[in-house]
Amino acid sequence: MTDETIGETPFPGTPPTDCPLCPRLVAYRAEQRLRHPGWWNAPVPPLGDPQARMAIVGLAPGLKGANRTGQPFHGDDAGKLLFATLAELGLATETPERWDVPGLFITNAVACAPPGNLPETGEKHACRAFLATQLSALPALRVVVALGETAHQAAIKAIGGKLPKYRFGHGAVHKLPSGVLLVDSYHPSRLNLNTGTITPEMLKAIFVAALELTNHGN
Ligand code: URA
Repeated sequence: MTDETIGETPFPGTPPTDCPLCPRLVAYRAEQRLRHPGWWNAPVPPLGDPQARMAIVGLAPGLKGANRTGQPFHGDDAGKLLFATLAELGLATETPERWDVPGLFITNAVACAPPGNLPETGEKHACRAFLATQLSALPALRVVVALGETAHQAAIKAIGGKLPKYRFGHGAVHKLPSGVLLVDSYHPSRLNLNTGTITPEMLKAIFVAALELTNHGN
C-alpha cells in the first residue's frame, strides 16, 4: 500500500501509513487489516486541491467508507449526501474510482477510523498537528466548513483560535484570527439524517453560504 498523494508527493500533514500515535486506533487498524486485506486500512489522506479556497473538515473516516476506499467521506452515507450536495453546486465530479473536487480540500479531524465512529479526546488531540499542517499548506484558503462540533474545535485549534470565543452552532460563521472564515454545520451522519437534525436542504444551504463567502466574503 502506498500513501495517497496529491501530485507526486503526499500532501503536507498526511499521517504516515503506519502512524503509531493512538494505540487504540493502531489496534483497530491491525484488526481491520486482517479482516479486510483489500481495504485502505490506514490514516486517510486529505482529498483535493492544494490551491483550494474552501476546506471541509469532517470527524473521522467511517470504517466501511473512507477506511475502505482511502478517500475522505467516500463510500458511506454521510459521503453520499456530501458529494451529491457538492456535485449539485458544481463543486465535485464523480469518476469511476473517486471524486474530484477542484477548488476544494476535504479532510478529517482524526485521520484513522475509530471504533463506533467515535474518536476519544486524546486521539483528537494527537491528530491535531496533522490538520494544522494541512490547513496551513493551503495558501488560498478563505473558508473552512466544519461538519460537526469535533471538526469545529479541531479547525479552530488547528488554525490558531481560542475555543471559548467561538461557539458551535449550525450555520454560524466565525472569523478566525488569521482571517479565515469558519462555517459550522451539523454533521451529515446517518444518525443526524435519520433524526432530522440535518436535512439535505440544510446541508445545501450551508454550502451555498460557504461558496458565497469563499467568492465574495472578506
Ligand atoms: N467519512 C469521513 O471521512 N468523515 C466523516 O466525518 C464521516 C464519514
